Amino acid sequence: MELRLKSALTALSAALLLFAGVAPPLAAEDAPIYSLKDRFSPVVAQNGMVASQEAVATRVGVEILKKGGNAVDAAIATGFALAVTLPRAGNLGGGGFMLIHLNETGETRALDYREKAPAAAERDMFLGPDGEPDKDKSRFSGLAVGVPGTVAGFAEAYEKHGGGTLTWADLIAPAIDLAENGITVTPGLSGALTAAAGRLTRDPATAAIFYKHGLIPYLPGEILRQPDLAATLRLIAEQGADGFYKGVTAEKIAAKVQAAGGGMTVDDLASYEPVWRAPITGTYRGFEVASMPPPSSGGVHIVQILNMLESFPIREFGLNSADSIHVMAEAMRRAYADRSKFLGDPDFIDIPVQGLTSAAYARALAETIRMDAATPSDDVRPGDPFPYESNETTHFSVVDKDGNAVSNTYTLNFSYGAGLTADGTGVLLNNELDDFSAKPGVPNAYGLIGGEANAVEGNKRPLSSMSPTMVFRDGSLFLVTGSPGGSRIITTTLQIVLNVIDHGMNIAEATAAPRIHNQWLPDEIRVEEGLSPDTVRLLEARGHKIEEKNAMGSTQSIMKIGGMLAGASDPRRTGALTEGY
Ligand code: GLY
Repeated sequence: MELRLKSALTALSAALLLFAGVAPPLAAEDAPIYSLKDRFSPVVAQNGMVASQEAVATRVGVEILKKGGNAVDAAIATGFALAVTLPRAGNLGGGGFMLIHLNETGETRALDYREKAPAAAERDMFLGPDGEPDKDKSRFSGLAVGVPGTVAGFAEAYEKHGGGTLTWADLIAPAIDLAENGITVTPGLSGALTAAAGRLTRDPATAAIFYKHGLIPYLPGEILRQPDLAATLRLIAEQGADGFYKGVTAEKIAAKVQAAGGGMTVDDLASYEPVWRAPITGTYRGFEVASMPPPSSGGVHIVQILNMLESFPIREFGLNSADSIHVMAEAMRRAYADRSKFLGDPDFIDIPVQGLTSAAYARALAETIRMDAATPSDDVRPGDPFPYESNETTHFSVVDKDGNAVSNTYTLNFSYGAGLTADGTGVLLNNELDDFSAKPGVPNAYGLIGGEANAVEGNKRPLSSMSPTMVFRDGSLFLVTGSPGGSRIITTTLQIVLNVIDHGMNIAEATAAPRIHNQWLPDEIRVEEGLSPDTVRLLEARGHKIEEKNAMGSTQSIMKIGGMLAGASDPRRTGALTEGY
């Protein structure tokens, strides 16, 4: 295994040297915590760490670790707290994926608690009278709402892998307290509510929670109380997942979805079950990678892209040089073309996972990459691009003192999901079913074609890009990471892995580095601010269209290095916190 280092620290003593202002020794076999040359330094701790998009929720998780909870306990408590403090993406009414690493056995398990289409869902339900996709139906009506998976997922994770010292109710108590007694509105929350006001105030139940007099967004520093959500959380604390999927909460969710034009029933809710799946695994330059399998496309394509990139000297090319961006973009283009055609819910379709993630297939694809010219996307593979995916997912990472880890990404899809709240529950409802292809085989409003594999069907899970990921070195935990960002989740998470492994960056530097993204269609490399104009010109000379757009992703990552933890929350979005002890 080869690993370039800018610097290395492998133990607390070395970290303390650094804090004292003494340059650390170089140790060629170890990864860096950080060095005095770095512009960004991570949070460092020895025992446990939580990285999430919202500071209060991070602290809830750290307190659980300090009380003796394990990484799964802390992740569950963080997840419930985020449903209160980060309502745009943290949720009870959505779904997601949790990767769990158990240090004692060395096992890594993938828990799929993605939303499902109600049994009554039909292939053409998102089409208008003209037979074309109707965005209002797939995004803002009751038809858009998938059967939520979060509460069942957390309950399953607790039952199978909770630490055993804390009760289920202990993990929900902080969220109940935050919902009942209120949270201090942050600039981030106030800004998100202001931005979404037009949509959220359409539903009186949502407006009554998040807007003063149903109209005015809360300002930073004001207190937001969510008593209905507190009552729902209390039912879940007392009754387990049944407190959500049966009885009054389920009845209110089904009633709201039906009133908004959807077909979800209490039976859909009562029969929801999360699924344990085998993680997608691969290797990259001697490191082992584990990530989320279908119905996420994330793991398959992270491994596929890494396999292609292994053929190229990315480290020698240099971070964000024209050569490295060129080969990254070409590899991404080829993977996303495959995504559109082959990926969907594995319970409904056959997915050639082994082929897609095989080194031989990646080598064959890599051989089609020319260094001197971009491959037009039309020449890669005519096929089926994925539907629109939004930014407003959220990721958190947890590592405990025993080396157990959780990488969790969950979502309501859009910011605040469909914008609908089940009356009297405080539960915002997702619009995850917009991740299905509304009309397979026919170009949508963007000129894109939806994949047959991801067609709407009753009880099916829509295809996702969420990519909770872990990297191991010689079987030992090395990196826990993941991100929101819709279709950019895969490439954002990928670049954290590349920046750490290829470019020897500490996790904070790896997080802050400018990102690029290519998703086959549109045929462009989307870049963040910060690339040099010379690099852009070199890429354009090879035939790439370069589009500078908004920042991408918001990673929450933790590295484990020589017994120390080094973590970083993405600086791209306000309010995030990594904290350890
Ligand atoms: N809704 C975003 C995703 O699942 O990828």
